[in-house]
Amino acid sequence: MRNLLTGLDVGTSKVCALVADASPEGEVALLGSGVAPCTGLRKGVVVNIEATVEAIRAALDEAEKTSGARVGSVVVGVAGPHIRGLNSHGIVAVRGGEVGSRDVDRVIDAARAVAIPLDRQVLHILPQQFAVDDQEGVREPIGMAGVRLEARIHIVTAAQSYGQNLSKCCERAGVTPAELMFEPLASAEAALFPEERELGVALIDIGGGTTDIVVFHSGAVMHTAVLPLGGNHLTSDIAAGIRTPVTEAEKLKIAYGAATSQVVRRDEMVQVPGVGGREPKAIARKLLADIIEPRMEEIFAMAQREIMRSGVADSLASGVVLVGGTSLLEGTQELAERIFGVPVRRGLPINLKGMPEELMKPMYTTAAGLILHQASRGSIHNGARFGRLGWLRSRLSDWVRDFF
Ligand SMILES: Nc1ncnc2c1ncn2[C@@H]1O[C@H](COP(=O)(O)OP(=O)(O)OP(=O)(O)O)[C@@H](O)[C@H]1O
Ligand SMILES: [Mg+2]
Repeated sequence: MRNLLTGLDVGTSKVCALVADASPEGEVALLGSGVAPCTGLRKGVVVNIEATVEAIRAALDEAEKTSGARVGSVVVGVAGPHIRGLNSHGIVAVRGGEVGSRDVDRVIDAARAVAIPLDRQVLHILPQQFAVDDQEGVREPIGMAGVRLEARIHIVTAAQSYGQNLSKCCERAGVTPAELMFEPLASAEAALFPEERELGVALIDIGGGTTDIVVFHSGAVMHTAVLPLGGNHLTSDIAAGIRTPVTEAEKLKIAYGAATSQVVRRDEMVQVPGVGGREPKAIARKLLADIIEPRMEEIFAMAQREIMRSGVADSLASGVVLVGGTSLLEGTQELAERIFGVPVRRGLPINLKGMPEELMKPMYTTAAGLILHQASRGSIHNGARFGRLGWLRSRLSDWVRDFF
């Protein structure tokens, strides 16, 4: 029996639907995909239901056509500045002198019993580490002898109404939203190597409307954040800076934009099409870079502050990984290395096998990760390929479902 997996990334710029299947042996094969431009979101949240439903339907239609499968339920990516990440911890007494799975359930319950306002829903409960008596840094406490079990966890919550609007859009498009997943966690599934999560890494997903951040250390999520800035702001800056319509500014950014003027030759000129009957004009490419650079610096400086908040900023041995469409901007890596002072690489959806070449791009990491997340759940991968917390994550999905 094969198991159909569908990931739906509803982004500020586009909707991407991927359909895959997983064999009982855990082999995931991509069956089809669909991408449709989307105008229904602003800064990662739905502001126009009709436009969003239309884009979801268009992406799903294409994914159904190319896969030959009928999509019933989907795992949906969620982002936006309404998302909050917080760390919490809990302590319980161990029953019977040896930690059992019930003790783990109880300690996670204790840790998640923080006051979460009624208008927020819990998206993820991610264990960081356990301590048994005085022994800290334990990942698999079951079977250990002790009297006291402590858990540290990271909780991700979303404003209920935003989640509901996104779910409503999926339902109107004819599919059931089985689960909402915070987008950068999905991107991380697709783009990061397990060693990077172990050694410490910050993944930064610079999309159209938002920049999402997730910091890993010792295999666990230490910090998550969403910044209300993305590639669309670069486009508006260009439109205002050289007085051209947004659609033209977007084309110029993609064709000639650069995140830092360091990577642009002084004498390089580019053609700007004339609007309103005016003649086309030539501008220095450096001018575009000079408009983009301060905004990118602002985004990275804000990201840097979030990374500092993780408490592990000094031990991110694997540096920073950039994904999202805006990471394609020439010079992004150079600028990021200057600001973060650590090695920076661009990430691609490498962990999902069979991605066609046109989807092997940094803007498709979220959709690919939504598929991988489903594949790693349950017994399919035994957790082994996806980190040692695999078994726990499969259980946690059940807890999260309770909340959803
Ligand atoms: N080659 C490129 N150079 C520079 N920017 C690019 C390039 N290709 C795409 N972009 C920009 O990337 C952004 C879209 O990225 P992406 O598809 O990751 O966003 P999204 O997932 O739709 O949005 P979000 O995650 O913010 O909700 C747009 O601002 C677009 O202009
Ligand atoms: Mg995105």
